[in-house]
Amino acid sequence: MQAQDPLAVIDPALIKQAVVALKNGDLVAIPTETVYGLAADASNPTAVKKIFTAKGRPADHPLIVHVAAPSANDDSAAQEAAWFNLLTPWVRDLSEDAMRLILAFWPGPLTLVFKKDKHVLSEVTGGQDTVAIRSPSHPIAQALLRELGGGLAAPSANRFGKVSPTRAADVRSEFDDLPALLVLDGGDCEVGIESTIVDMTSNPPVLLRPGAITPNQIQSRTGITVVGLDQRSNSGEDGVRPRVSGSLKAHYAPNTPMRMYAPGGLYDCLAEYPDIKSRVAVVMWESERAIGGQSNHMEWHEIAVPLSSEAFASGLYRLLRDLDDQAWDLILIPEPPTGQEWDGVRDRLQRACFGSGPSESNHVKS
Ligand code: TXA
Ligand code: MG
Repeated sequence: MQAQDPLAVIDPALIKQAVVALKNGDLVAIPTETVYGLAADASNPTAVKKIFTAKGRPADHPLIVHVAAPSANDDSAAQEAAWFNLLTPWVRDLSEDAMRLILAFWPGPLTLVFKKDKHVLSEVTGGQDTVAIRSPSHPIAQALLRELGGGLAAPSANRFGKVSPTRAADVRSEFDDLPALLVLDGGDCEVGIESTIVDMTSNPPVLLRPGAITPNQIQSRTGITVVGLDQRSNSGEDGVRPRVSGSLKAHYAPNTPMRMYAPGGLYDCLAEYPDIKSRVAVVMWESERAIGGQSNHMEWHEIAVPLSSEAFASGLYRLLRDLDDQAWDLILIPEPPTGQEWDGVRDRLQRACFGSGPSESNHVKS
C-alpha cells in the first residue's frame, strides 16, 4: 500500500525519534490508511489524557488502541498464534468469529470492540468494560508500532467534531497551537474515512460505524453476519448504546454551511437560497458535469467528484477542507447512491451537513 508514495518511505531515524517521544509521554501524529491519528502510549495515563486536552474531546469518549501486525510471511496457524499473543494484554476473550475477522481484514480499516482485559486503562476506554482495537495497514504506522512494542491510543487527529485530517499539512493546521507536535508524514491517506467499527461483544456482532469494509464484504469473506445498530438483539441486560463520538448527529463538520441535494434536485436546492448570489460551491458527479454554472439568480463554482465509493471516500475530507479554506457561502454536495459501499460516505456527509456552519450556529451539542 502506498509503496509508490515517497512520503510513505520509512525513515528509521524518524521512527526512533517518535518512539522516544511516545515513551516520554508526548503525543505523535501518525498516518494510517484511513485518516491521521493523534497517538499516545496506551499504557501511559498522563499521555492519554493529553489527547483529550489537545482535541477538546469529552473524557468519556473511548479511544481505539492500535497494535502491530505479525509478519505477513507466517502461515495462518502461526499468524493466529501471533495475533492471540498480541491481543492477550488487551482483550479478555477472543472468540473464534473475532479471530476469523482478524485473519481476513487485519491489518486494515476494521476496528473490533472486545471485552477489555483488566489492565487496560480507563482513560483509554472512557470507563467502559470494552476496548476498541485495530491494526492499521499504513507502513509507517506498522513500523512505529513494531518499534514501540506496545499499543497506541489514537483518535483521528482533528479537533472534536471537525473534519478528520487525511494529509500531514491538515494535522499541522489543526494543531497549530502545538508547534512541537511531531507529525509523521505518510502522504495522503488512501481510504480517506475512518475505520468500520464492529462490536464483537454482541451476538450477532453489531456495526457501530460504517466504513470502507462493509457487512456484505465481511459476510462473503468470513460467513459472519454483522447487523446494524437498529437490529441489535435486546437479550443483553444493559441495552446501553456504546459511546461513539462519530455517532453524534453533528460531526466531521466544515465551518461553511453544507447541504446535500437529491439526484436531479440541484436547482430546487439552489432556489432555497435566494439571498446568495454567488460564492456557492457545487460538487457534482464527474458524469453529470457541464450542466452549466448558472441558474437565474446565482452563479456557482463546480467541482467534479468520482462516482466510485472508494475514490470519493479517499478524497472526501481533503475536498471538505479545501472548500472550507476557500470561504464559500454555501457548499452543495450530491446525495450518494444507495448501497452498502456508500454507507460510510453517506454517514459522514449527513453528520457533516448537520454540523456545518460557524461553530456558534451549529448543532454539535445534540
Ligand atoms: O480509522 C480510524 O478508526 C481512525 C484512525 C486514526 O485509526 N481513528 C478514529 O478514532 O476514527 P476516533 O477516536 O476519531 O473514533 C473512534 C471511535 C469513537 O467514535 C469511539 O467512541 C469509538 O471508536 N470507540 C472506541 N472505543 C470504543 C468502545 N469500547 N466501544 C464502542 N465504541 C468505541
Ligand atoms: Mg474522530
